Amino acid sequence: MVSTLITNIGELVTNDPAAGGLGVVRDAALVMDGGTVAWTGPAAAAPAADESFDAAGRAVLPGFVDSHAHLVFAGERAEEFAARMSGEKYAAGGIRTTVERTRAASDDDLRANLRRLIGEMARQGTTTVECKSGYGLTVEQEERAVRIAAELADEVTYLGAHVVPAEYRDDAAAYARLAATDMLSACAPHARWVDVFCEEGAFDADQAREILQAGVKAGLSPRLHANQLTQGPAVRLAVELDAASADHCTFLSDADVDALASSRTVATLLPGVEFSTRQPYPDARRLLDAGATVALATDCNPGSCYSSSMAFCIAVAVRDMRMTPAEAVWAATAGGARALRRTDVGHLAPGARADVHVLDAPSHIHLAYRPGVPQTHAVWKAGRRVR
Ligand code: NIG
Ligand code: FE
Repeated sequence: MVSTLITNIGELVTNDPAAGGLGVVRDAALVMDGGTVAWTGPAAAAPAADESFDAAGRAVLPGFVDSHAHLVFAGERAEEFAARMSGEKYAAGGIRTTVERTRAASDDDLRANLRRLIGEMARQGTTTVECKSGYGLTVEQEERAVRIAAELADEVTYLGAHVVPAEYRDDAAAYARLAATDMLSACAPHARWVDVFCEEGAFDADQAREILQAGVKAGLSPRLHANQLTQGPAVRLAVELDAASADHCTFLSDADVDALASSRTVATLLPGVEFSTRQPYPDARRLLDAGATVALATDCNPGSCYSSSMAFCIAVAVRDMRMTPAEAVWAATAGGARALRRTDVGHLAPGARADVHVLDAPSHIHLAYRPGVPQTHAVWKAGRRVR
């Protein structure tokens, strides 16, 4: 692989923890070599490389880390969205519509849809993607979903406990047991994470604990859909299990906020969901002021949020969740890496994966300042140009 020098960077966002905040370097350059960052610093001191790319004063960021997405599915639910916008409430049961479509799809159709969405994300600057199963809900179908996800996504999560499928309607406990035993055993070889939708209408805290603990025994690490629709016990369960992330965090008690703030569990906020379900936004300011670590992710899925845009999440988080532009950009890059317990992505320092996002703007602030405007100029993932 040839080395590449990106020069004339107006603002380089490094997320260097020693510098604090975004670790911005002005008039900077960056060299990537063999898939990793080899050098960063002032443009005037940059070493030579095989190729060079003139950023012409643009801002350069670490690629976005989208730490929460559901991308192995077939079909869509535009009519359900339209019904919500005329007053229907979002409910977990809508997931079953996508389960029917997904079960009927071929491997190649699922693969093609996943490739399409990961490509759509890359073209918008997302270079690390977490992908969950959860629209199969049989042993064979969940195994197929995590296996296909593992072909294309950076991080794979087993979410057999997404909702109780129709055929188990009268015996949810039996389905939870299946998710903690045979289904888990079939899926664990393809996944790194185990997740449960712990919510009214999905799985309760006891079921979630059992499935997550079984997942840990099978070598997986826990993360959790927590407090999306109600102020339930899921956030505290996530902290109790030292989950990498508690995702959604829309309805939080003071005890939930305190628990997150005194833990390693990241609060991953998914503002596209509140946008697309017309729910109140999570209170990012309250979490940040308490000392919790906050990440932003899309939750891209055909039901609660069919957006793959991290820039959109940033804009909403700044406008409606009282995050500063710098906090939101950090949450969409370093925060996502934290939520996935990854140290190689979400920042730009020598040794980091060369995931580089050149904005068509002079500053990271433009991501929130110019909402809805495509601002991705060029993208490298592990040193390979993807846009
Ligand atoms: O994270 N809440 C659970 N799962 C997804 C929604 C899935 C769907 O509606 O299809 C979420 O919002
Ligand atoms: Fe989700």
